[in-house]
Amino acid sequence: MLDQQSISVTPMSDVIGAEVRGIQIARVDDALFDQIHAAWMDNLVLLFRDQTEMTDDALVRFSRRIGVLDIAPPNENGQPVIPGFPEILIISNVLENGVPLGALGNAEAIWHSDMNYIEEPPTASVLWGMEVPETGGDTGFLNMYKALEDMPADLRRRIDGLSVKHDSSTNSGGFLRDGAQPVTDLTTCPGAIHPIVRTHPVTGRKALYLGRRRNSYIMGLPLDESEALLDALWAHTDQPAHYWHHQWRPGDVVIWDNRCCMHRRDSFDPQARRIMHRTQIKGDKPA
Ligand code: SIN
Repeated sequence: MLDQQSISVTPMSDVIGAEVRGIQIARVDDALFDQIHAAWMDNLVLLFRDQTEMTDDALVRFSRRIGVLDIAPPNENGQPVIPGFPEILIISNVLENGVPLGALGNAEAIWHSDMNYIEEPPTASVLWGMEVPETGGDTGFLNMYKALEDMPADLRRRIDGLSVKHDSSTNSGGFLRDGAQPVTDLTTCPGAIHPIVRTHPVTGRKALYLGRRRNSYIMGLPLDESEALLDALWAHTDQPAHYWHHQWRPGDVVIWDNRCCMHRRDSFDPQARRIMHRTQIKGDKPA
């Protein structure tokens, strides 16, 4: 039996992510949560292995300690959420009676911050790996504080005061969202506008905020200049010095902070089963 008095925090890489050992998050109390929150602010992403006591109820209770939960966004298959748990989004490639159980299938999901295309994107997401493939389906996390801090000075100067329009039509798996029209003009397609550099409301640190590359547009620039600047920013950002990839085991739970990191997912064998339950915590307008 764990005493659950204190946590031990072990970095997963030099750049982002730490494993918290010695606790079952189903039994976290206020004092323990304060320690977890402090470790999370320092490491951006926390991994909890072997969560044998995890249930949907525990996932929701733990997530509510971080903040108010969003109702799960609709997925591209129009599947209903879990009865009694409207906050939980199922991410899965599994078909039950020919019907997808959840969102995103087995394909790669590109780098993104969750729901960057709305006015108040979620602060955080909590992902529970219930069934995972033996290989593939790893989730990468990228440190956006660091991407800003080590940006070459001329590139940094070029983004001063700029904002990005975050297209709302297409999700990170490349699927058109429910009711969305294919994008024909990046300058007029729908989506929220956020500053390229945002300040984290808890740590006070500045982070680059790109959202996702597909269909994004830098406000006020001619389209070709916007594309060239976004290409330069993404080339700088998407480099191994900024990220770490997590290889899942069943029973892993991961929290990430959408205000200062992006994530992506590798594709995996369509015959393998991957079932994840995810919550997300309401956020504020990036500033
Ligand atoms: C996501 O983008 O939230 C999904 C990540 C994953 O399936 O690993």
